[in-house]
Amino acid sequence: MARIGILTGGGDCPGLNAVIRGVVRKGIEDGDHEFVGLSHGWAGVLEGQGRPLGREETAGLLPRGGTILGTSRTNPYRDGGDGTALVSAAMERLGLDGLIAIGGEDTLGVASRLAADDVPVIGVPKTIDNDLAGTDYTFGFDTAVQIASDAIDRLHTTAESHDRVIVVEVMGRHAGWIACSAGMAGGAHAILVPEKPFDMGALCDVIRARHDRGRRYSIIVASEGAVPAGGGLTAREDDLDEFGHPRLGGIGAWLEREIEEETGYETRMVVLGHVQRGGTPTAYDRILATRYGVGAIDAWDRGERGVMVALHGTQIVTVPLSEALAAPKLLDPQLYDAAEVFFG
Ligand code: F6P
Repeated sequence: MARIGILTGGGDCPGLNAVIRGVVRKGIEDGDHEFVGLSHGWAGVLEGQGRPLGREETAGLLPRGGTILGTSRTNPYRDGGDGTALVSAAMERLGLDGLIAIGGEDTLGVASRLAADDVPVIGVPKTIDNDLAGTDYTFGFDTAVQIASDAIDRLHTTAESHDRVIVVEVMGRHAGWIACSAGMAGGAHAILVPEKPFDMGALCDVIRARHDRGRRYSIIVASEGAVPAGGGLTAREDDLDEFGHPRLGGIGAWLEREIEEETGYETRMVVLGHVQRGGTPTAYDRILATRYGVGAIDAWDRGERGVMVALHGTQIVTVPLSEALAAPKLLDPQLYDAAEVFFG
């Protein structure tokens, strides 16, 4: 039997609660483990803020969006601090044998550093952006794609009624997974992703060619991290989080202005923003999140530490945290090539 702390860090994501439920239910049934829910990511660990999590506390969580534990972008290693000593001391105060950290590159980056210092930790990959290496999919991505493609469907009819260009800005800091998938599902006429700096002239040519064919409206989907070739934009570099990431946003507004100026066609932009992270997870994400929760306890019971649960094909496996964090998983060029067939 072990006493394990669970935390959720970074941006919230549909399916976090389903992971928590999966961990606790599997842990109670199989190993008779005890669980402590830590508040607001690494902040709750450092402050020793935890509460018991059992069957009762996790009942009804499967379809619930957000995270019952709260989240933050707190970094225990901020400003060169000795994060390992801080976390270890907090774990001792809370009587914890180990941690299950549910998060993306930053939260799991901390977990990886802790693991390198022999702190017993297991990671669960979370991000709507789907840009974590080591796994085929992160939970939350499917929900974000569904929300964004529903929105794109709706934008088609209003764009068409008004003969407008509509730019849809979606999340995706380093990688264009959401833009490409939602754009493909929603029949976008061009998709802009961080991996492929775009040519403004070529984009306007695509829009003009549509108008010339009598298709007098266009839907352009852009990742928040998309950039024009040769620069010219835009990110809000003034506002850094504790992991040093700037707050993105701005590509939609920039494109709205530039497209209208260059083509003369009336243009509007929509930033889907945090709508993509809110609300109930899709059935796919509920299942994946549950399997990750169960898989994290299976890994713990096998004695694995310093690993992340992952999906390879249809199987839940584990990979070393260090491997998963080495570099972001960028958009599969084959997926973009297939989407590109339908541009214009
Ligand atoms: O979770 C990753 C992400 O969705 C990025 O795509 C986005 O840049 C970021 O979160 C924004 O998060 P917040 O505004 O909550 O800091």
